Amino acid sequence: MSKQVEKIKELIAKREQARLGGGEKAIEKQHARGKYTARERIDMLLDEGSFEEVDMFKLHRCTNFGMEKKQYLGDGVVAGSGTIDGRLVYIFAQDFTVNGGSLSETMAQKICKVMDMAMKMGAPVIGINDSGGARIQEGICALAGYAEIFERNILASGVIPQISGIFGPCAGGAVYSPALTDFTLMMENTSYMFLTGPKVVKTVTGEDIDQEHLGGASVHSTKSGVTHFTASTEEEAMEMIKTLLSYIPSNNMEEAPRKECNDPINRMEDSLNEIIPEDPNMAYDMYKVISAITDDNEFFEVQPKFAKNIIVGFARFNGQSVGIVANQPSCYAGVLDVNASRKGARFVRFCDAFNIPIVSLVDVPGFLPGTGQEYNAVILHGAQLLYAYGEATVPKVTVTLRKSYGGSHIVMGCKQLRTDINYAWPSAEIAVMGASGAVAVLCAKEAKEHEDPKAFLAEKEEEYTEMFANPYQAAKYGYIDDVIEPRNTRFRICRALAQLATKRDGLPAKKHGNIPM
Ligand code: HXC
Repeated sequence: MSKQVEKIKELIAKREQARLGGGEKAIEKQHARGKYTARERIDMLLDEGSFEEVDMFKLHRCTNFGMEKKQYLGDGVVAGSGTIDGRLVYIFAQDFTVNGGSLSETMAQKICKVMDMAMKMGAPVIGINDSGGARIQEGICALAGYAEIFERNILASGVIPQISGIFGPCAGGAVYSPALTDFTLMMENTSYMFLTGPKVVKTVTGEDIDQEHLGGASVHSTKSGVTHFTASTEEEAMEMIKTLLSYIPSNNMEEAPRKECNDPINRMEDSLNEIIPEDPNMAYDMYKVISAITDDNEFFEVQPKFAKNIIVGFARFNGQSVGIVANQPSCYAGVLDVNASRKGARFVRFCDAFNIPIVSLVDVPGFLPGTGQEYNAVILHGAQLLYAYGEATVPKVTVTLRKSYGGSHIVMGCKQLRTDINYAWPSAEIAVMGASGAVAVLCAKEAKEHEDPKAFLAEKEEEYTEMFANPYQAAKYGYIDDVIEPRNTRFRICRALAQLATKRDGLPAKKHGNIPM
């Protein structure tokens, strides 16, 4: 055998060894946990044969605590580039079979390398997390590695989309990388995220809690809002990431890819003329409105289980990707609160950063009152949503379906927040507050002087409703551009977006704003 052939054989053997990660036993253990390996995950996500791996032979340099014996080619992360639906992406997947996927200085360097490439190329970066956290044997070097990653997450924010999949443990400071990225997806039952695990919680606070109830997907998708998506199988998770990518551009200088649209833009939806209940206090389902107006009735929801009083997600109009923000009257009457505000604000900011127009569907009675909200800074979080809308320079179209009262009217993309086109349905009620609240303030003293104060107040409420509970007061001042027939909503939004395609708007020169948080 020639030396050359021998060397090639050695290369092939090394590659095979690297592909085994922590070895066959560790792979079996990973499968027994119901989890795929890092390489299997990458194969599932990327277009077949498109993976271009980097640093397959990279090794850690630690010799503390016998680490020289725990050497595996490539260390605990598989990294590189590939394509999804033909579009370039960068990817890294932590390999739990290698020292529990714990993050070494070397692994951080590999992750940073693909992040730097993603920034240069203007391509999304996807990180699959499955790790015991900082590699304890490496001490400060592992921490420094995390910090290098976080800094890149911060610099990449608003430049390229960053997506995190949590496919196993993600504990301690490690959670901050996903938290800094745009979207997080957690696996149900096999993943968790927390700053301190159950044992530390027990020691510090005395609280008895298991991993799932402390930081499982069920908690972060409903209570904290830390995760945007959950999946019950890894296959489903990968499909969700692909769908998400189909709605967003590869970087902040591009537009989202257009999808051919066979759904007529002038499709009338007669059901919408009937959807608003006679009784203004009755609910209806905003999902029905959304699916009635979007291309092929499709809607890809973000954070579907968190703050259900507001709905956010992606859809298309005439093939163009848009972000939809909608109040949900069938959940707490669609009221805005702390969680709904921060959910909406983050989504609006993502859309604005990545050139995705925002369509708002408004039916909001106001902000939720009470100490629970005030003590949790509803003022600041409401201001966050307000700030996000007012700062956004992408095309903005707002449709007011029914209620739009007070501060919440302003916050949900009113005309003065530089919304380009504001439509209202004939059922819209745009006013400072609802009739009963308004009359209680205006007529309380007068009512006392009447023989039948109740009848007097009812009469005044009717008068107020007649005067204010309509779209024409706002239309009279040009704050509503047009009052439209509900069944025409799809057509009007499509035409508005076509008109706004060349929109140019900006912000005053500044280092950055100071969004309330
Ligand atoms: C080094 C680690 C490790 C770590 C796991 N391993 N975590 N090695 N540093 N952080 C190793 C284990 O020693 C073991 O090695 C292998 O990975 C598999 O781990 P097991 O414990 O056998 O697996 P399992 O029973 O499934 O438990 C997984 C686990 C547990 C729950 C993640 O390993 C664990 O609790 N790890 C420590 C978690 C942690 O506290 N991390 C630090 C968080 S603080 P062998 O050789 O035996 O197979 C942090 C700070 C970051 O990360 C700050 C950034 C700003």
